[in-house]
Amino acid sequence: MKNIFQIIKLDNGTYSIRSIKDAETFHPVIGPTDEAKALYLNQLNIPTRMAQYKKQFVIWDVGLGAAANPITILQHTKHIKTSLKILSFDKTILPLEFALQNTQYLTYLKGWEHILTILLEKHTVVFNNGIQPVEWNLIKGDFPETIQKAINSYLTLQPPCAILYDAYSPKSNPDMWTLNLFKNIYSLLSPGVPCSLATYSRSTMIRVTLLVAGFFVGTGHPTGEKEETTIAANRPELIDNLLDKRWLLRAKRSTNAEPMTEPVPLQKPLTKTTLELLLNHPQFNTQPI
Ligand SMILES: C[S@@+](CC[C@H](N)C(=O)[O-])C[C@H]1O[C@@H](n2cnc3c(N)ncnc32)[C@H](O)[C@@H]1O
Repeated sequence: MKNIFQIIKLDNGTYSIRSIKDAETFHPVIGPTDEAKALYLNQLNIPTRMAQYKKQFVIWDVGLGAAANPITILQHTKHIKTSLKILSFDKTILPLEFALQNTQYLTYLKGWEHILTILLEKHTVVFNNGIQPVEWNLIKGDFPETIQKAINSYLTLQPPCAILYDAYSPKSNPDMWTLNLFKNIYSLLSPGVPCSLATYSRSTMIRVTLLVAGFFVGTGHPTGEKEETTIAANRPELIDNLLDKRWLLRAKRSTNAEPMTEPVPLQKPLTKTTLELLLNHPQFNTQPI
């Protein structure tokens, strides 16, 4: 495993994991827990939304990796009695196994070893997190295939209230950023369940992909690494700063804005068809130029 992952010390003194094969560091600048807090916990307003939610609050954790995102959510919501279901998706459990051997560096995992070991062995674990009842499931496998199985009704996935979208970058992990995948994700949301998704990417191409898939899209909080991230939702009121027509004009001039229809990096300006779809999107079709 040493040749697959390594522990990296970041400039701020915290530690993160680097996948040698994928040449990607999991939380490259501010470290695992600060990034999880800024990008997902606070940006998606999870504690407040969870406290106000009357049913089970469902989170999709896409790219479980070394579990920094779900552990951070659990640590900051244990005072909330709403029951929580986490569905974690990953094609491999190796990063979490490696992380559990390195808790002296990845200290956010301390105290969670037992629960994570059960999750890795049984792919499901039920426990009380403070006053919060939790069911945590791991769905191991290729995420686009898992989503396709749910679309074809071979698998039931409870519609999420929040999605932590943490794949590797579109350049090295294009299969996780195609238009078809986001259309499928959008069609698995329930119109009756408000849902927001955050991702570290601020790329025009990813924002266009989310819009064409059906989401409302806005600029997300800075995280230290990026001065802007992206938030998407099935309801505009979940987003503070919706992209406006000025953004659309910039997207029109961009040389890298067209969504990937195949899992291969594309680098193309918007086609006429995509521009039409954007202009007719409810986010833009009522906004004056
Ligand atoms: C940046 S890491 C996630 C870091 C993680 N969220 C954390 O907090 O430690 C990206 C993860 O996405 C997973 N991944 C990449 N492509 C995938 C695919 N096609 N299906 C499922 N998981 C995938 C990788 O195995 C990796 O664990």
